[in-house]
Amino acid sequence: MKFVELNNGVKMPILGFGTYQIPSEEVEKAVSEAIEVGYRSFDTAARYNTERGLGLAMKKSGVSRKDFFITTKVWLDNYSYDKCRHYIDQALENLQTDYLDLVLIHQPFGDYYAAYRALEEAYQAGKIRAIGVSNFAPFRLVDMCLFGREVIPAINQVEVNPLNQRVEEQEIMQKYNVQMEAWAPFGEGKNGMFENVVLREIGRKHGKSVAQVILRWLVQREVVVICKSTHQERMRENFEIFDFELDNEDIQKIRELDTGETLFFNPQTVETVEKFNQKMQERKW
Ligand SMILES: NC(=O)c1ccc[n+]([C@@H]2O[C@H](COP(=O)([O-])OP(=O)(O)OC[C@H]3O[C@@H](n4cnc5c(N)ncnc54)[C@H](OP(=O)(O)O)[C@@H]3O)[C@@H](O)[C@H]2O)c1
Repeated sequence: MKFVELNNGVKMPILGFGTYQIPSEEVEKAVSEAIEVGYRSFDTAARYNTERGLGLAMKKSGVSRKDFFITTKVWLDNYSYDKCRHYIDQALENLQTDYLDLVLIHQPFGDYYAAYRALEEAYQAGKIRAIGVSNFAPFRLVDMCLFGREVIPAINQVEVNPLNQRVEEQEIMQKYNVQMEAWAPFGEGKNGMFENVVLREIGRKHGKSVAQVILRWLVQREVVVICKSTHQERMRENFEIFDFELDNEDIQKIRELDTGETLFFNPQTVETVEKFNQKMQERKW
């Protein structure tokens, strides 16, 4: 496994396993299979309802806690200093651990600064090894780095895939020493990602699948990436990306696939803020 060094010196595996949309009763099995394949970095969140299953699988694995890298995320309903403090203790309990490797502010809405203050405190107390944000547009991230808080976010976890590459955003993150992390590297298969002819052709050239080409492309860009599968053969396939290299021609061809458009949601639009607010009001999220 290749590791990146975060802005506070903490080392994080460049490839990890995501648990979003895995039904809570299936999480323990999926994570156990992923651990067997070799994954040690796992991504969960309060909102996914996967913390407990992940905690159980880690506990039963026999793998030492220090060999895992666990990321979780605070959801909007805990965006106050007190609630976030309480959430951190809840997450520790759910995950059956006495420290978390990384905790992120999940969405850039509401009073996220209050929650971040609780994360900073837990970081300084040694309960969390690194803290960061997710879905932060460049202006919000830079605002946080310059005017925000004492601890500069270590990570900004955002949607990155061949159709939405965020090249300029990565340059801004690099300038502020914030590591880019990609969620939904396959775009969950939307817009024909796995059937894309350019990616298929590159895969054929290297004897690799589209999924492997995408993950390799992100790793070569020095982007931390988390991918999800509930099939162990795909978990294995997605893990086997360190034995080949994309060349400049491949990278140029992938570069041309960028549409600059999200496949999911744009946190900078009024519609998105309204939608999140409505879901919270209706207690759907
Ligand atoms: N911060 C955020 O707001 C945010 C948002 C979304 C996601 N995330 C994180 O990012 C992680 C990854 O994103 P994601 O789960 O949304 O999407 P993803 O990893 O891009 O795609 C997952 C989908 O791809 C399929 N798949 C996986 N490997 C495959 C392969 N080798 N060949 C064919 N199909 C394959 C999976 O199917 P099967 O499971 O059936 O194999 C699943 O349907 C999440 O699990 C979560 O931890 C964060």
